[in-house]
Amino acid sequence: MCLHTDKDGTPDKVTDTLVTSSFSETGSSQSVMYTSTNSDVVQAAKAPCSEIPLHFSAHYKDYAYLPSWRKAPENKLISLVDQKDYLEVVYERSSSEGSSPSHQVCHYSYDWLRDICRCDECFNTVTHNKQTAISLHPQRPKSIGISEDGDFVEISWDGGHDSRYPKSVLLAEYLLAKDPRENDPVIDAQRQLWGSDLPESSFRKYEFDSLITDDHSLFDWLMDLRKTGLTVVKNAPRKLGQVTELCNRVAYPRIICWGPTFQVGVKENASHVAYSNLPLSMHTDSAFYMFPPGVQVLHCIKQASSGGQTHVADGFRAAEKIRQADPECFDLLTKTEWEYFDMGDDYIGPHHLQARHPVIRLDSRGRLRQIVYNDLNRGWRQDNATSTSPAAYKALRKYSEYLNAEDSMLKYTLKEGDIIVIDNFRVLHGRSKVDSASARLMEGAFMDWDEICSKLRSLGKALFS
Ligand SMILES: [Fe+2]
Ligand SMILES: [Zn+2]
Repeated sequence: MCLHTDKDGTPDKVTDTLVTSSFSETGSSQSVMYTSTNSDVVQAAKAPCSEIPLHFSAHYKDYAYLPSWRKAPENKLISLVDQKDYLEVVYERSSSEGSSPSHQVCHYSYDWLRDICRCDECFNTVTHNKQTAISLHPQRPKSIGISEDGDFVEISWDGGHDSRYPKSVLLAEYLLAKDPRENDPVIDAQRQLWGSDLPESSFRKYEFDSLITDDHSLFDWLMDLRKTGLTVVKNAPRKLGQVTELCNRVAYPRIICWGPTFQVGVKENASHVAYSNLPLSMHTDSAFYMFPPGVQVLHCIKQASSGGQTHVADGFRAAEKIRQADPECFDLLTKTEWEYFDMGDDYIGPHHLQARHPVIRLDSRGRLRQIVYNDLNRGWRQDNATSTSPAAYKALRKYSEYLNAEDSMLKYTLKEGDIIVIDNFRVLHGRSKVDSASARLMEGAFMDWDEICSKLRSLGKALFS
C-alpha cells in the first residue's frame, strides 16, 4: 500500500459549491422543475426516458449493483488528507483542451468508508449482503494511501482490516450525496406537476401490445408513471383479465380485500359506493390500509351510454400550491392524522380495515411522499384534539378546494379498450354519475411501487448499462 498523507503538499483547493435544489412551478406549463446551481445535473434530470444515462458502476465488481445517473468524471486522484473523522480526497478535474485543470476536494467519513467495504470478508457478492456487524467496525485508519495505478483509495484500519475503494465509486457517490434528488434514479425521478390545462395530446399514450412485448416501451411507461403519476394505455382487448396481464408484466397485482382484481359495474343494492351509479368525489384508493396500494390500473371494457366521466387531479400540485399560499395550513395537513375504515365481507371473508394517515406525508427532506385523502371512508375516532379542531377541518376543506378547482381537475372520458393507470400516492380520482341503465364495466387492479421501482431498476440495468 502506498502511503500518502501529505497535508502540506495539497494543491490549490477548489471546494465545490454546494448544490441546492428546490421546487419552483414554472409558467403556463405548470410543470415543476428543480433548480440547481449545477447545470449538468439539471441536464441529466431532464433527459427523456429512453435516453437516461443509467450507469451501473461496473469498474469494480463488488460495487456493480450500485446505480447512478451518470458516469463519474475521469478525475485523477491527487492526494489524501486525514481530517480527524473524515478522509479528504483531492481530485484533479479532467480538463477540456486549453483550460487549466482545477482540483476538487471531497470528504468522506471514516464511518461510511468502513461501512461500505466490499471485500470478501465484509460483503457477500452472491447474496448482496453485508457480513459484518457495525458494532465491530473500527472507525480510525492506521494508514491511508492511493494504489500504484492511481485507481483506488486504500485504507488499513485499526485492528488489521484492509479496504480499497475505486475512485470512480467514491466520486460518483460524493456527487450523488450532494444532490439527493439523483440518489436513486427511480425513487428520486423528477416529478412533473400538471393541472387541467394539460392538453390531452401531451398525455403520452402507450399501446397495450407493445407494453406486453417490448421492454423499452415498458421502461418508458413506468418511468412516465413515476414522473407524471398519470398514463393511459390504449387498445387493450375489451375483455376481463387484461389488468392482470399488465400487472404480471411488471410483477403481480397487489391483492386487497376485494381480491387481486375488482370489477366496477352498476349493481343494484351495491355493497360499495364504487359499484353503484353514484358520483364519486376525488379520493385516493384504499385509505383504510396502513400501506395503501401504490398504483391503480383501471380498464374500461364497456363505457356508459352517458355519464361515468373519469376525474383526476394532481394531489402533489395541490399540496405545493398550499405550501406556497398558506404554510400553516400545509403544516396542519402534514401533522393531523385522519382515520379511515372499511367493513365488508368479500374476498378475504369479513373484513374491518382501519388506518390513520395525514393528508400530506413528507420525506425527511420535506419533499412530498404520499397523499391520502378520501371523504368516502373517513372514520370518526380522533387522533388527538387537533383532528377535530376547526383549523384541521379548515385545512381539509382547503385541500379539497384546491383539488376541485377549475385549473386542477382533469376530466377524461375513457374509451373502450383504454386502461388508465394512476399513482395512488399522488393522483386523486373520482367520476361523474353513471347512467343507471348502463352496462358500464370497468376492471381494476393495484400494484405497489416497490415492485414497479424494482422492475425499473432491473430494466434500466438490462437496457442501458
Ligand atoms: Fe377509487
Ligand atoms: Zn472489508
